[in-house]
Amino acid sequence: MRKQIAAANWKMNLTYQQGEELLDSILKEEISLEKDQQVVFAVPFPYLIMAAEKLKGRKNYFGSAQNCSDKKSGAYTGEVSAEMLHSIHITHCVLGHSERREYFSEFNQALAHKAELCLEYNITPIFCCGEPLSIREVGAEEGFVEAQLKESLFHFSEDQIRKIVIAYEPIWAIGTGMTATTAQAQEMHAHIRFLLASKYSKNTADIIPILYGGSVKAGNAKELFSCPDVDGGLVGGASLVAADFCSIIRALK
Ligand code: PGA
Repeated sequence: MRKQIAAANWKMNLTYQQGEELLDSILKEEISLEKDQQVVFAVPFPYLIMAAEKLKGRKNYFGSAQNCSDKKSGAYTGEVSAEMLHSIHITHCVLGHSERREYFSEFNQALAHKAELCLEYNITPIFCCGEPLSIREVGAEEGFVEAQLKESLFHFSEDQIRKIVIAYEPIWAIGTGMTATTAQAQEMHAHIRFLLASKYSKNTADIIPILYGGSVKAGNAKELFSCPDVDGGLVGGASLVAADFCSIIRALK
């Protein structure tokens, strides 16, 4: 079975102390994971070492960055490179979140470079895609997501693409409380898998985890994750409350 992943995206929330407390409360639950289940915590940069320390030795629990630079190294003040993440044993990195696309002008081409650098340093990119409401309203969401995948990922070899996790996050559902219906989520996830199969192979499409993101909550996770092509979630708001995120972990297939 392909991996089923509950990924927390803390965004720019919580102080260091609050972050430690949250992580401790979740880990204290000792939720045992099946072989194919994983839990990822995408935390702010200054908390990465603390998270990695706490997660060390816990099988299938990983720390993740929320972004990295599209440059390898050099005079780029304020940036953090994939190599730096690797040097502190970080194994995952969220890329192309819609908030980064919207507020920090991240485009598909730069995201392609970020994904390349992550793979070079053995970091699993959690690549976000998803359409704004205006695109869904005119029924153009499949083409929109297809362009994001083509321009950022489809230059990779089959071996490389197998190392990527995709997160489908319809922008209109992020932080709005407006979740996609299971039918809407399943339909887009199946479409993404179809695109992967057409570009690579069915085998490859079948092993790439596709997470759903956008108002995943304790109360709707089980239903969303029960869709055959939904392999877990990328969770913002509900990942900031220990009990809620624990329920979401327990909802994994
Ligand atoms: P949300 O955020 O769960 O608060 O909607 C999801 C995300 O942005 O990854």
